[in-house]
Amino acid sequence: MAILVIGGTGFIGPRAIRRLIERGEEVVCMDINPHSDQLSGMGERLKVVYGDVTSFEDVVKAILETKPDRIINLAYLLPVVGTEDRPHFDTRLNIMGMDNCFEAARVCGVNRVVYASSIAVSGQQSSFGDRETNEDDPMYGTSQYAMHKIFNEFQASKYIENYGMAITGIRPANVTGPDKFRGSVDHVRCITQPARGEPVNFPHKEMMRLPIHVEDIAEAFVRVLLADSSHYPVYNSGGHAISLGDLADMVKEFLPDSQITFDNEGGRELSGNYMVDNSRLRDEFEIEYAPFRQRVLEIINEVRMDSSLPVVTGR
Ligand SMILES: NC(=O)c1ccc[n+]([C@@H]2O[C@H](COP(=O)([O-])OP(=O)(O)OC[C@H]3O[C@@H](n4cnc5c(N)ncnc54)[C@H](O)[C@@H]3O)[C@@H](O)[C@H]2O)c1
Repeated sequence: MAILVIGGTGFIGPRAIRRLIERGEEVVCMDINPHSDQLSGMGERLKVVYGDVTSFEDVVKAILETKPDRIINLAYLLPVVGTEDRPHFDTRLNIMGMDNCFEAARVCGVNRVVYASSIAVSGQQSSFGDRETNEDDPMYGTSQYAMHKIFNEFQASKYIENYGMAITGIRPANVTGPDKFRGSVDHVRCITQPARGEPVNFPHKEMMRLPIHVEDIAEAFVRVLLADSSHYPVYNSGGHAISLGDLADMVKEFLPDSQITFDNEGGRELSGNYMVDNSRLRDEFEIEYAPFRQRVLEIINEVRMDSSLPVVTGR
């Protein structure tokens, strides 16, 4: 079938596209940055075009030219540490961009749309106490990014209720991989910097994260997208709950000379939601993630090969 991937040249997009191509689908990727080394060599079933999701005309044009059976929207502004939110720009991309996808899909007769929400909607773990959350729990996120994702879920619910569209959101946890630069990156740097032989320091040893490897979230997006519909409007990806201190210890198993330091021992109470029930996604889409320790080793070795360093082996 034909699939339009919007925002497909970033971190998650190329992995999802590769999986779609491998399954025999025809993919058009529309992105404001239509270049990605990772998309080369995928053959004639992939076309990459320039298009801006904030322009309704661009989205409609891409749909009319592609005639997709399915659309997935990954175009977004992920927060970058040390940079300020730009409310007007970000709202156009995150809120209007999402509306453009839903509305253009509706007027062009594409019923099936998948989009990325985020674990950020839930806010701090402390809001829930010491228990797992599921998709029915209240959303306590307060950052601009979280508020935009919460509103995206509301937008989707309107298109589902009012027009009967089959729209599904996935809430990825802390996606990790060797080439992640936007969004949460402490758990990434805890692996990639030691892999390059660089020291790395973090404020809080007990800060909890819920990493999920980028290949695993890409597979989740693809399975949900290829389904005609879903039982629920939104799904938690879940991941592997781990403190930065324990992640550092895992990295040191492979790289004993790693210099990973922390300013203080605590931080758990500052953590975002990390106790997450993802049974809806696992059961309905038969998703199973690779063991996290194996993923950590893969990231280490991808980074080391890129840096012309010898690979390390697991015990
Ligand atoms: N990476 C994570 O840890 C994570 C976690 C939770 C949710 N998500 C969500 O998953 C989705 C994809 O994340 P990612 O990590 O691949 O992000 P990314 O920033 O790597 O990719 C986003 C893509 O959107 C494109 N884009 C930006 N503005 C655009 C515009 N105006 N028109 C068209 N394309 C535009 C970018 O060029 C980029 O290719 C996002 O919605 C993100 O919020 C990601």
